[in-house]
Amino acid sequence: MPVSSPERQTMLLERSRAWVEVDEGAITHNTRVLRQRIGPHVKLMAVVKANGYGHGDGATAHAARAGGADAFAVASLAEAVGLRRQGVQEPVLVLGHLSQGDEARACLHWRLLPTISTMDQARMFHAVASGSGACLPVHVNLDTGMARLGVPWQEGAALIQAIQPLESLRVEGVYSHLAAADAVDPGLTRRQRQRFDQVLAQLGNGQPARLCRHLANSAATMADDSLHYDMVRVGLALYGHAAAEHLEGILPLRPAMAVRARVTLLKNVPAGTGISYDHRYHTRRPSRLAVVAIGYADGVPRLLSSRMGVLHRGHRLPQVGAITMDQLMIDATDHPQLHTGAVVTLLGHDGTATISPRQWSEACGTIPWDVLCGFSSRLPRLSAGHSPQQGDQPTLQ
Ligand SMILES: Cc1ncc(COP(=O)(O)O)c(C=O)c1O
Repeated sequence: MPVSSPERQTMLLERSRAWVEVDEGAITHNTRVLRQRIGPHVKLMAVVKANGYGHGDGATAHAARAGGADAFAVASLAEAVGLRRQGVQEPVLVLGHLSQGDEARACLHWRLLPTISTMDQARMFHAVASGSGACLPVHVNLDTGMARLGVPWQEGAALIQAIQPLESLRVEGVYSHLAAADAVDPGLTRRQRQRFDQVLAQLGNGQPARLCRHLANSAATMADDSLHYDMVRVGLALYGHAAAEHLEGILPLRPAMAVRARVTLLKNVPAGTGISYDHRYHTRRPSRLAVVAIGYADGVPRLLSSRMGVLHRGHRLPQVGAITMDQLMIDATDHPQLHTGAVVTLLGHDGTATISPRQWSEACGTIPWDVLCGFSSRLPRLSAGHSPQQGDQPTLQ
């Protein structure tokens, strides 16, 4: 297949080694499923921080909008501006802490919703907004038990009441973040919910008009209707995963990410051959090894060494030896059909077989969020419809 244009060359390069395949249709489907769960009177804020949990933030936002997302949340100003530049027009909440005048000016310019945790921050935003004759909508974050951002909940009502007279700020939303909504024991969530309600009760009739109250993440959205309030902020479920094993199956979610890589070299080695750094694995029989072009620099945790497998045509092939920066080895002895250039699946579906982020996270002591966000920018993000089929082999000539 001759290389005929720079675009074609880019396409071949993207598919020559390893890539993340993103099924935007799955994100749209998951958003619809979540929409049905919350009903028509609750808004859905799609959390697309960290490059849409590794799926690509712009593509995720557009897919979520098609499924009925009303608004988006990101961690940083750069992420928020990035969404605007990719054509996202809906409200965008910045969850991170902004405290500089330039950041406030950027919020005004790009129509972004900042999170407020302190009165100093509110005064700064007010000064910048009044200087440009604008009225800036803000969301106040209450710390009800996360001990991260947010005003301590005991001071929440006082902060909101102190902001209300500032004519260049409008408290449009009040929110909090749950620390253990995915736990089997709902005790901490119940306490956080009581604290949230207590602040709202303290505001009473003096509540800002049209206040948007939001508390639920994916786990709370799936587990308990009474946590939905006026809006939910969903991340993980949008990408097709339940936040905990006991929440699996509640909604028919479809995983949106697959990670695939090519076999670049096959070799036969005798029994007793030490594999990879430190020879942590030795072959027990004459073996056929396949070298796969993906490693820990791409986001495959090194802790998974000899504890993971890959899928090929529905079969699981064990990974052996230490995972290296750019490559890993698999034992293909029982799979003579595997050939150089074949595509193997590290994460996601291959036919009816699947490897989930939870399988990875349990094997290396982390959480599915960490697995999804861990894939590096070296891996191109390809739309599922445009990714190569198993066995496709590009040639660069
Ligand atoms: C403040 C806030 N809200 C919502 C979410 C979404 O959480 P989840 O991915 O569990 O739905 C996050 C994610 O970390 C968050 O930090």
